[in-house]
Parts: sequence; C-alpha cells; structure tokens
Amino acid sequence: MPSRPPRRMNLNELVDSLERARLHGHGGAYFPTGTKLRAVASQRRRPIVVVNGTEGEPLSRKDRFLLSARTDVVLDGAFCVAHALGADAIVVGVDHRRVQVIDALEQALAGRPELADRGAPVVEVIGVPDGFVSGQETALINFLNGLEAKPTTTPPYPFEKGLRGRPTLVSNAETYAQIGRIVAGRFDGSRHVTVAGAVPRTTVVSVRPGTTVAAALTAAGGVTEPISAILLGGYGGTWAAAAPALELPLDEPTLRAEGLTLGAGIIFALGSSDCGVSEVARVTRWMADQTAGQCGPCVFGLDAIAGALEDLCAPGLPGRDRFRSLAQVQRWCAMVNKRGGCAHPDGVSRYVTSALSVMAHTFSDHAGNGPCDRCEADYRAANAPLRRSVRTGQAVPV
Ligand SMILES: Cc1cc2nc3c(=O)[nH]c(=O)nc-3n(C[C@H](O)[C@H](O)[C@H](O)COP(=O)(O)O)c2cc1C
Ligand code: SF4
Repeated sequence: MPSRPPRRMNLNELVDSLERARLHGHGGAYFPTGTKLRAVASQRRRPIVVVNGTEGEPLSRKDRFLLSARTDVVLDGAFCVAHALGADAIVVGVDHRRVQVIDALEQALAGRPELADRGAPVVEVIGVPDGFVSGQETALINFLNGLEAKPTTTPPYPFEKGLRGRPTLVSNAETYAQIGRIVAGRFDGSRHVTVAGAVPRTTVVSVRPGTTVAAALTAAGGVTEPISAILLGGYGGTWAAAAPALELPLDEPTLRAEGLTLGAGIIFALGSSDCGVSEVARVTRWMADQTAGQCGPCVFGLDAIAGALEDLCAPGLPGRDRFRSLAQVQRWCAMVNKRGGCAHPDGVSRYVTSALSVMAHTFSDHAGNGPCDRCEADYRAANAPLRRSVRTGQAVPV
C-alpha cells in the first residue's frame, strides 16, 4: 500500500513534467505521452483512463511484472492522470488468463486512499481475451464496449471517441508506472525490458539509459551459446546482426537512428544452434493466425507469407520452388505493409523483411540447398502425428 497518495498535479503541470522527462509510450509506438494527454483533454466530454495491461506479445513479461510486483506505482500514474484529466473512471485491461495479476491489482486497489475521496474515479479491472491483436487500442476499446476484441479503422481515435463513446486515454501499463515515478520525483530514465531466447530463462530487467544490449543479456544471466542475430521489439520488431547490435545502447532515439526500436521493450537473442529461417517461419505462422480476420491483406497476405517461409523449411520441395517462395516472401511483405485496418501486417512485414536482410545468407542457403538439419527436426516435431499420453491423458507428439 502506498504510504500516502501520489502528488496531484493539474494538467499543465503534469504535461510539463512528462515533456521534461521526454516520456514516450511503452506500448510499442513510442508516441509522446504529454501530446496524447493534451489531445484527450481538448475534447468536450469527460474523459476515461484505460491502462493497457493486455501484453499480447508472447515474448513480453514486463507488464505482468509491473502490474503484479510494482502495482502501486502503476496505479499512482493512473490516478494522477485521471486527476489531471478530470476523468471519472479508470479501467485496467489485463489478459484474462493472468489471474495473479488481477488479484494483485484488486488487493492494491483495496488499500488505495484516493478511493475514499468524494468524486474519486471508479476503478475496474477487466479480463480481456488473449491474443496478439487484443491489445491494439481500438480492439481493447471495442471489447470494453461489449464488442469483440477486434480493431476498427481510425479515425475516430480513442482520444476522440473511445470507451462509452467518451474521449479515452489508452496507455501501456509501463507508461503509467513511468508517470507514477515522474510525479514522485523518482524517474531516472530506466525502463523495463524482457530478455528472451538464448539466456537461461526469459527475464525482466530494469535498464538505465545507455545500457547496451550485451549488458542487458548479461543482466538476464548471460547468453547460453554464441548469438547469431538479435530481435529487438518482439514479433512486430526488427532483426539486427548480432555483432553491431550487442554494442548498441538501449536508448530509443539511438536505436531509431539505426532503423531499430525496442518496441514494447523486448530483446530476443537467437542462439547459433537455432535456425533463423525455421524461427522466422514459426513466428510468422503464429502471427498470421492472430489476424482479426477483417482485412484481405492481413487474412490472405500473412497466411501466404507464412506458407512461403514454411516452404523453405519443408523437406522434399524442388529448388526452383524454394527460390520462387523466397522471392514471393519479399514481394508480399511489401504488398501487405500499411494495408491493414491496424498495424498488425506492418509488424509482420517489418519482422520478416528485416530477417531476410540480416540473415540473407541463411535464407539463400535454404533456398539453394534445402532445409538444414535443425529445420528438418523442427518440421518433424511440428508435423508429428499425436498420440494420447497414458499418464497425463494429454496429446503428445510421437
Ligand atoms: C497488433 C497490435 C497489438 C498491440 N498490443 C499491445 C499490447 O499488448 N499492449 C500495449 O500496451 N499496446 C499494444 N499495442 C499498442 C496500442 O495500440 C497502443 O498504441 C498503446 O497501448 C498505447 O500506449 P502507449 O502510448 O503507452 O505506448 C498494440 C498495437 C498493435 C498494432
Ligand atoms: S489488419 Fe488484421 S488484425 Fe488489423 S484490423 Fe485488419 S484483419 Fe484485423
């Protein structure tokens, strides 16, 4: 429980503090948070504050960590924003499977002193269907409005017409945690990053500005084998060659100048015993399956890209078919980019095209010589017939 309620600031004071701290959203798009607050405040109707804690990115763990282990600082930020905007409601959206996170939020809310105030905002914690696209802001708003968790085209943007038709500030859980720290005078530019892949286990680390990718890997327990490539920003992010990327500072402007981004704060290290082509094909298939099924380029384009990548890993395909598939991947990625109702296809396009460029040699080797041993093993595991385990009753690969 916080010892005392967070400091209250009016809108101008709060936006000034956020701008001085150069706070940008931690949900992936790196939008300046102060600008977003002003946009919500400029609308006529009374606003609502939404904390996006859905964390649909499979590699990410930082939001569930913050919401369950740093619950009060996230709530400090949300209450502060609600006060500055004059919002009468705060809604925290969390993946419905994260029962511990929901419990932690409910416990923390029971001890919040602000809730005893007259005119305090009503706070609700709502379980949201899992899925990569459920955390996209219009999908989240649609679900909270009683519709399916599927994105809709913008405008109107949530800041104009969001929850209950009212101006809505949707920000990531970590963005509110940063606001909580800024208001308490405890902000030092650190952020939380999830480190995954060739490390002992997926780990959330707090990194100060200037910390390198290599130092973040060390903080997560160190790499378990030599690294062949690094993915920054998760499944909608960008691949980078290991050697220069390891020395890059985890500082968004520097990364952006290199055509990279930490997105929602994810570093994935591809170990040299893993096959990049197989990994990219697997993730692309998963992302294609996450489509909300509403836009042609997303429904058909992502499926076709995943299929062509799978051709490079499938045994028995003639070489000319593999070369054709590789050329099609490149062409189709360009065709789906910016062609969806939301940015889901753009993320897949970025993920795949950066892989093609950073792992060009591995991709052309697969096109020319067929799948490697690792691909064949992955392919066999993925296509193995299932039998029922006598002990657990669960289906297991034979
Ligand atoms: C396909 C897709 C999935 C997204 N998933 C999430 C998510 O799980 N959590 C999140 O905070 N933002 C997610 N976003 C970004 C949100 O739409 C929105 O930009 C974000 O919540 C705004 O918060 P911020 O300003 O604090 O970054 C997603 C965006 C897209 C296109
Ligand atoms: S691009 Fe895909 S996920 Fe986004 S709205 Fe269209 S179908 Fe849904």
